[in-house]
Amino acid sequence: MKPSFAIIGCGKVGTALGKFLAKAGYKPAGFASKSLSSAERAAEISGSDNCSRIPWEITRKADIVFITTPDSAIADTCNSISLHSGFCKNGVVLHCSGALPSTILSSVKECGAFAGSMHPLQTFASVEIEKNPFQDIIISLEGEKEAVSIARKIATDLGATCFTIQTEAKTLYHASAVAASNYLVTVLGLSLKLIEAAGISGADALKALKPLIEGTLSNIEKAGIDRALTGPIVRGDIETVKKHLVQIGLKTPDLLDLYKTLGFHTVDIAMAGGGLSESSAQKLKKITSPDS
Ligand SMILES: NC(=O)c1ccc[n+]([C@@H]2O[C@H](COP(=O)([O-])OP(=O)(O)OC[C@H]3O[C@@H](n4cnc5c(N)ncnc54)[C@H](OP(=O)(O)O)[C@@H]3O)[C@@H](O)[C@H]2O)c1
Repeated sequence: MKPSFAIIGCGKVGTALGKFLAKAGYKPAGFASKSLSSAERAAEISGSDNCSRIPWEITRKADIVFITTPDSAIADTCNSISLHSGFCKNGVVLHCSGALPSTILSSVKECGAFAGSMHPLQTFASVEIEKNPFQDIIISLEGEKEAVSIARKIATDLGATCFTIQTEAKTLYHASAVAASNYLVTVLGLSLKLIEAAGISGADALKALKPLIEGTLSNIEKAGIDRALTGPIVRGDIETVKKHLVQIGLKTPDLLDLYKTLGFHTVDIAMAGGGLSESSAQKLKKITSPDS
């Protein structure tokens, strides 16, 4: 029989975990959240009727506890539960933060439980999720070996693949996830503002750019970053880049610094791919440098 689990913090990630762990055969012991309505919603979605605003009323009955509050509340929530002897002896306590280490859960030792972190490399934008968001994604694990071993089994049962990460490497690992997800949004926002400034607006703009975005991702997958680059920088087309900078400076000056910074770093990728001469690279670096 699969172990029982409790969810403390019933927002986007907690609700998704509840729903898909229950579907994978784990027994929901209960749900607690700051507001009872969030706990009730998650419990209903997961087929449970046990919910509370008081975490330790729920966690005492669970083999595995997920603390899925916002990052800023994880340590305090864990400490309060430990203080109320709220974790099972030999139980496992996990949080899902990408940035924070499992050591913030160290108070679980007072109850004889084991701490770990289990971060899904996925974006959860809503509590209403139909399709399993854990299927075929990567989940990174870190913490005490007893916790990591259980978390590995959970990740596999959710349909994910997992790897372990050094506790002290979590901050850089999370910065990488932020760059891939959040900054991709920033770069595409830049692209949309520029195409809108060129007179192509709204839904048409995204529709126009989408095949280009998907083609680029596919090129990266096939050839790697250094060889996926096309366009004026890797061609050494300095005059075109100069014209971009002039027009952006005139029409959307608030975007100029970001465009230049991205160009400056793109020169390094073009060099690494072997497609750009040293002299063109120097000229391009000069015009895209923050001091130019
Ligand atoms: N969203 C993502 O894309 C994503 C991806 C990977 C990992 N994560 C991680 O997953 C964790 C949860 O993130 P989320 O996006 O699911 O956040 P969220 O949607 O804001 O959910 C957090 C939930 O915790 C409840 N809560 C707040 N303070 C609490 C407390 N002191 N005690 C009990 N419950 C409390 C909230 O309030 P109510 O009870 O009032 O609703 C809310 O339902 C974070 O560690 C985050 O870093 C998020």
